[in-house]
Order: sequence, then structure tokens, then C-alpha cells
Amino acid sequence: MPSWVVTGASRGLGYEFVKQISQDPSNVVIGLVRNRTTSLSALLELEKTRKNLHIVEADVTNDIALEKAVGEVKKFTGGTLDTLVNNAALSSQERSGYELDGYPNDEKELLEQDLLANFKTNVIGVIKVINSLLPLIRATATASGSARVITLNSGLGDVDMTIKSEVTFGGPYSISKAALLLAIAKYAVKYKKENIIFLSISPGLVDTATEPPTPETLEAYAHMVKTFQIGYPNWNGVPITPEESVSAMLNVLKGLTINDTGAFISHKGNKEWL
Ligand SMILES: NC(=O)c1ccc[n+]([C@@H]2O[C@H](COP(=O)([O-])OP(=O)(O)OC[C@H]3O[C@@H](n4cnc5c(N)ncnc54)[C@H](OP(=O)(O)O)[C@@H]3O)[C@@H](O)[C@H]2O)c1
Repeated sequence: MPSWVVTGASRGLGYEFVKQISQDPSNVVIGLVRNRTTSLSALLELEKTRKNLHIVEADVTNDIALEKAVGEVKKFTGGTLDTLVNNAALSSQERSGYELDGYPNDEKELLEQDLLANFKTNVIGVIKVINSLLPLIRATATASGSARVITLNSGLGDVDMTIKSEVTFGGPYSISKAALLLAIAKYAVKYKKENIIFLSISPGLVDTATEPPTPETLEAYAHMVKTFQIGYPNWNGVPITPEESVSAMLNVLKGLTINDTGAFISHKGNKEWL
């Protein structure tokens, strides 16, 4: 049975991944959540009705929690893992509209804090998850010929997109995602000979909000749309749904081969981020 681990399954795209993947009863799906009790109730309901879906707790930045979680994963998969989806991230923050040199005087010290927080979860957290699960992934690749590590990235982590669309906001998040791309490339190079595919994928612009937007978030969104339309003048500014994004990404994954290892592509299977 193909086995999957999806991090950040508590809500947003992570929840949608486990929902769509566990629809097929032949998949064994483990959703890693930071906190079971604050996860979407829909996820916990799904776990009750789908025997092939298991929720396991771990903060991706915590080695001890990850070690415990890997022990749980092994019980469900028999010690192997076909596909890891690194989805968890620090993705929406109150100061994401600030430019790197635009933190007001009374918030200047928060720039370093934001840079470190994004790096800790979005880069170190992903590396810790990969390292913890690599023995299981390598066991699959040895036994069945290949395995996959799929890591969610963002057009904001792409230098060309940043220049083309003149994106100056979201520095700490964007920088962490750019660093993550290189981390994934390092693994891709090292594990190509073992037939383990490492792919970075952007989900498109997806509405994963769990609460209605405030006037401030609507204003920030309008600014983001205007910025993105500098590079993509024909883009209509409407985010796609998690259902659309995840089904598009799963479709892209179907055609993956080892020749794709190390690539960074979008939900459209190319370099079109929106
Ligand atoms: N939505 C978009 O338009 C978009 C665009 C480009 C890229 N992406 C990428 O796609 C992925 C998913 O995005 P999303 O919009 O679904 O994000 P989201 O709604 O903000 O959800 C983030 C998920 O990550 C989990 N998480 C954060 N820190 C964690 C930690 N330390 N340990 C364990 N779990 C942690 C959260 O858990 P809690 O519930 O416990 O906080 C939550 O499940 C991210 O990698 C994001 O960067 C999204």
C-alpha cells in the first residue's frame, strides 16, 4: 500500500492533501499536526471514518517530538515511506506587508525575529522532518525502486518572479523559501543515485484562510494582486481553492520521474506561479 506523510495537516493545503489522498483506500496516509486539539474538526472527523488515515502530533522544529512521531509512522507503514509531503510552514504573518527596510522605528527589533522565525520553521523544520524520515524513505527506494519527497514552496521564493513582479513585501517568508529551495536541491543531488525524487512545488495562490478577512487583510490582498499583476498582467487576481490546488499538484506528481529531481515547478507543472 502506498504510504504518505503530510506535514501541517491541521488546516489549509495540508488538510486538503490528506483528504484527497486518503480518498483512495489503498493509500496509507499519516497527517502530521502540531496540535491535535486545535486542528480542524473536519480532519478529526475524517480520521474516524477513514481507516487508512492517521493523525500524529509533532512540531516540525522539535527533535524529540519528531523522533516520537517517526515511531508512530513506522507502526502504520511497517518501516517504509513512499511519499513525504513537506507542507507545514509559517506562512501568514502580521508584518508580511513590511519591506526589509520598512520596519517602523518602534518595531525595528522585530525584523530579526521575523527572519529567524521563518528560517526556523520553513528551512530548519523541513530539514529536520526530512532527516527524521529519510531512513523510511530510503527503505522504500531500496525495496521498490523509488520514493519521493515533495516540498511546498512559493513563487515568492523565486528570484525571477520577485524581479518580474517587483515584489518588495514578505521578505522573511520569501527569503526562507528561497533558502529552502537550495536545501532541497542538496538532497536531490545526494539521493539521485538512490532514485529518491526531491521536488519543490508551488501551489498557486490559494485561499486557505480559516476566518473571514478583516479590512486590513483585504487591503493587503489588493496590494498583493496589483503587485503580482505587474508580472502577470492577464492574471484575474482570484485565488484558487485548496481543492483545485491540491488536485492540480497531485496530477503533476503522477508524471514525476527521477529526471525531475531538484526541480521547482508550480501546480501547473511549469514555471507559471499564478
Ligand atoms: N496558500 C497559498 O497561497 C500558498 C502560496 C504559496 C505557497 N504556499 C505554501 O503551501 C504550504 C501550505 O500553505 P497553507 O496556505 O495551507 O498554510 P497555512 O494555512 O498557514 O497552514 C500552515 C500549516 O503549517 C503548520 N505549521 C506551522 N508551523 C508548524 C510547526 N512548527 N510544526 C508543525 N506544523 C506547523 C500549521 O499548523 P497549526 O495549525 O498548528 O498552526 C498549519 O497546519 C506552505 O508551505 C506555504 O508556504 C501557500
